Amino acid sequence: MPNLPQPPASRPRVLLTGATGYVASRLLPVFRERYDLRLVDVRTTNAQGQPVEGAQLANLLDDADEQLKPHFQNVDAVVHLGYFRPPGMTVTGEGKSYLDERPNVDMAERVYRFALDAGVKRVVFASSNHAADWWEPLIHARRVDRIGPSDLPRSDNYYGWAKIAYEALGWMYACGAFGRKLEVVQLRIGAPRELDAGQFEGRAAEFKRDLGAYLSAADLQQLAVRSIECGPLEDEWGVPFQIFYGISNNTRAFWSITNARQVIGYAPEDDSEVRYAADIARLLRSSPGPVGAP
Ligand SMILES: NC(=O)c1ccc[n+]([C@@H]2O[C@H](COP(=O)([O-])OP(=O)(O)OC[C@H]3O[C@@H](n4cnc5c(N)ncnc54)[C@H](O)[C@@H]3O)[C@@H](O)[C@H]2O)c1
Repeated sequence: MPNLPQPPASRPRVLLTGATGYVASRLLPVFRERYDLRLVDVRTTNAQGQPVEGAQLANLLDDADEQLKPHFQNVDAVVHLGYFRPPGMTVTGEGKSYLDERPNVDMAERVYRFALDAGVKRVVFASSNHAADWWEPLIHARRVDRIGPSDLPRSDNYYGWAKIAYEALGWMYACGAFGRKLEVVQLRIGAPRELDAGQFEGRAAEFKRDLGAYLSAADLQQLAVRSIECGPLEDEWGVPFQIFYGISNNTRAFWSITNARQVIGYAPEDDSEVRYAADIARLLRSSPGPVGAP
């Protein structure tokens, strides 16, 4: 069970985009218990073809403003998981172009704008660790120990670039440039799935990396719920904008979650070192130690 805060006195109204996607499927069991939900996506079934209860059709790229605006009315928070997947995309964006990823920046801008105009208090966006993935080779080579949200976002691929771009757009909305401050959380999600140790035979460095990046379903749920409900989010300049890395309480963590612990009380309960202890003993016997060691 996730370590959740006391539910608010009145049930929050939450608009969830990308509601039939993978990350949404991990969040919905808890969201359905706590929130009055509005679910939108370009499809009403999940990737397995099963209907997702309550999902309504909305295309955040193509639908007219007047069609989309009503979805944002009378909600307290928007959780934006909608993601346009360019055909044939690889995670590193290899071989992919600027135009493949730009729709995700366009979609983000519309979500911020509709949320601002509708008086929504807070938006929580799925970003990704790839917003700063240029640093990873340095971390794995032990030239850098750890990075966090205050390090410069740097990426060498268009997927990461799009995340950086819409994180930066979020800052504009949070700082009050458009008349009021929209509260903005960016979740730089790590590896939100159970690890299949069998895939890491003879690949110690990759296994260590995923042990550091691991995010259990319960911790993802806790992080998302706290991002919606907890705060205040203001930084030292009074801007309600936070970037939180999304990882569990991993012994091998190489991204900092200090600010998530401090600002929203995120207290992840799972540690990949414990969950995968037997696999670690087997796969890393000849390569104990830090991430990146071969
Ligand atoms: N899954 C991961 O491992 C992971 C890791 C880090 C970050 N993230 C981020 O989390 C977010 C969600 O990822 P996911 O794995 O659930 O992806 P997904 O592809 O499973 O879900 C995305 C959803 O967005 C919907 N969508 C696409 N175009 C849309 C549009 N124009 N309007 C409305 N909805 C639209 C899709 O139909 C889909 O249901 C993404 O931003 C992704 O980059 C995911």
